[in-house]
Amino acid sequence: MMHKSATLGLLAAAGSAFAALQVDISSTSSIKAAAKDVAFDVMSVYKGNQSGEIVGLIGSPPPVGEYYWWTGAVLWSTMIDYWHYTNDSTYNAVTVQGLTAQNGPNLQSPFMPPNWTASMGNDDQGFWGIAAAKANEAGLPAPPKGEPSWLDLAKAIFQVQTVRYTDSEDACGGGLRWMIVPVNTGFDLKNTASTAVFLNLGARLYHATQNETYADWVEKGWTWLTTIGLVDDKFNVYDSVSTIDDCAKANKQQWSYNAGLLLETAAYMYAQKSSKSADSKETTTWKTRTTSLANRTVSHFFSADQGVLVEPLCENAGQPACTQDMSFFKGVTLRSLAGAAVLVDELRDPDHGVGQALRATAQATAKTCSGGKSGRECKFDWTGHAADQNAKLDGAPVEINALAAVLGPLAVESASGAGGNGNGSGSNGGNGNGSGSGDAGSGENGQSGTDDGNAGASLRVGMGVMVAGLVAALI
Ligand SMILES: *[C@@H]1O[C@H](CO)[C@@H](O)[C@H](O)[C@H]1NC(C)=O
Ligand SMILES: *[C@@H]1O[C@H](CO)[C@@H](O)[C@H](O)[C@H]1NC(C)=O
Ligand SMILES: *[C@@H]1O[C@H](CO)[C@@H](O)[C@H](O)[C@H]1NC(C)=O
Ligand SMILES: *[C@@H]1O[C@H](CO)[C@@H](O)[C@H](O)[C@H]1NC(C)=O
Ligand SMILES: *[C@@H]1O[C@H](CO)[C@@H](O)[C@H](O)[C@H]1NC(C)=O
Ligand SMILES: *[C@@H]1O[C@H](CO)[C@@H](O)[C@H](O)[C@H]1NC(C)=O
Ligand SMILES: *[C@@H]1O[C@H](CO)[C@@H](O)[C@H](O)[C@H]1NC(C)=O
Repeated sequence: MMHKSATLGLLAAAGSAFAALQVDISSTSSIKAAAKDVAFDVMSVYKGNQSGEIVGLIGSPPPVGEYYWWTGAVLWSTMIDYWHYTNDSTYNAVTVQGLTAQNGPNLQSPFMPPNWTASMGNDDQGFWGIAAAKANEAGLPAPPKGEPSWLDLAKAIFQVQTVRYTDSEDACGGGLRWMIVPVNTGFDLKNTASTAVFLNLGARLYHATQNETYADWVEKGWTWLTTIGLVDDKFNVYDSVSTIDDCAKANKQQWSYNAGLLLETAAYMYAQKSSKSADSKETTTWKTRTTSLANRTVSHFFSADQGVLVEPLCENAGQPACTQDMSFFKGVTLRSLAGAAVLVDELRDPDHGVGQALRATAQATAKTCSGGKSGRECKFDWTGHAADQNAKLDGAPVEINALAAVLGPLAVESASGAGGNGNGSGSNGGNGNGSGSGDAGSGENGQSGTDDGNAGASLRVGMGVMVAGLVAALI
């Protein structure tokens, strides 16, 4: 079912364990084989099984290691997709173990393990919630006996975040604050990432349970984002607003994952609403949001000449290099776009829009996978002509992004011919029972502690953990 042949035959012989990645994008089995190699490389950078390391996290967060807590959720969301789209269950046990290890002490504190709570953002916690929701949708084996189900975990996170949302509505009329703990810098920001992750989780829960309470929340949060100017009438998606000036002026940085997470949110809503009624006002509204945001996301974040995903604010010439956090965004974005495409027919056209963007990006990414000791390490930049400020990036974010890229066409393929959106059945059925859904996508961004002095952008810098340490003593 893949369209158009484009063989990316590269340097070395096929089949060798240490040769450049080979992908024929027109062949499902070829893409699966490539995904298997990249998945192996992703899991090779996971340190959680090594002594002295932390189960569930790629490596210790700063200041000890490089990767913030939320990136663990990104890793497991990626591996859930890998299994879901390839049916290779090799990493399911370690995924279940990793997710379970970072869950909180109880359902009142879902995914709020004491180690990380002091520096936690709503977005950080929400990314773990999305991972749990995906585990439910894909039918990942249940957590060990005595632990709550994936669905109950996802519901619990949504529940605690609705309380935080309601508690802070006196500031700017809605939205989620970035930070959870008041003394952290960033508590005064209401950021799109936190709100988008919350809405993405709500839309998944609506799709999984058909409980209209979730749909009402997603509508309410979406309306707030547009009213406050974080999503404009051209469907540009901006970073954050500050409660200090009553959210008068949006920080207009555009990060790809915010757009991706909202697009996937809209796709879940559209799919679920249209399964109830093909031509209701709500179905039409969510359809417009889905297709408009899809168009804008592709035109803003994918290179005009090649149609390949770029993170413009830290990848284009003249921009500072991507931080460790920012380096994970492209993978989140691609997973979200794939998840949206699984749900919505209009997003699977191989020659236009999201469908085309996913294919072009998979192809371009695979071409970069010919480096390092293995001979198939991928690169961060996929266009081949971006500035080189990110040339040093390697390891976890680069391989995780690459796996998301390679899985994109498989996601589209998995849904094509299965009926598409509409009845919530076929390959993308999904229900509360943890079986057979086709979502994808999850996101992340986490951060903690402080902002980066970047005009109020809700992006963390290394200082976060120090602030967190201080706070740990207070709560
Ligand atoms: C909490 O931190 C300790 C000490 O670093 C570590 O051993 C443990 O695995 C961590 N737990 C979680 C859930 O991250
Ligand atoms: C998926 O993998 C399982 C084994 O893990 C196998 O029993 C099943 O037949 C596979 N399904 C498909 C559709 O290949
Ligand atoms: C990590 O440990 C788990 C549980 O013992 C095991 O299932 C998994 O295969 C291990 N993963 C790796 C990558 O070593
Ligand atoms: C729907 O979800 C809300 C929020 O979690 C819950 O309070 C309510 O009981 C649910 N309704 C049904 C019918 O399950
Ligand atoms: C999105 O783009 C497609 C093709 O470029 C176009 O046909 C469609 O009208 C656009 N949809 C919206 C809502 O802008
Ligand atoms: C939904 O299912 C019904 C009954 O099976 C069928 O008639 C209808 O065409 C389906 N709609 C979509 C959009 O697939
Ligand atoms: C969920 O699973 C239960 C028990 O297996 C079954 O009775 C129920 O019909 C399922 N619900 C859906 C929506 O598939």
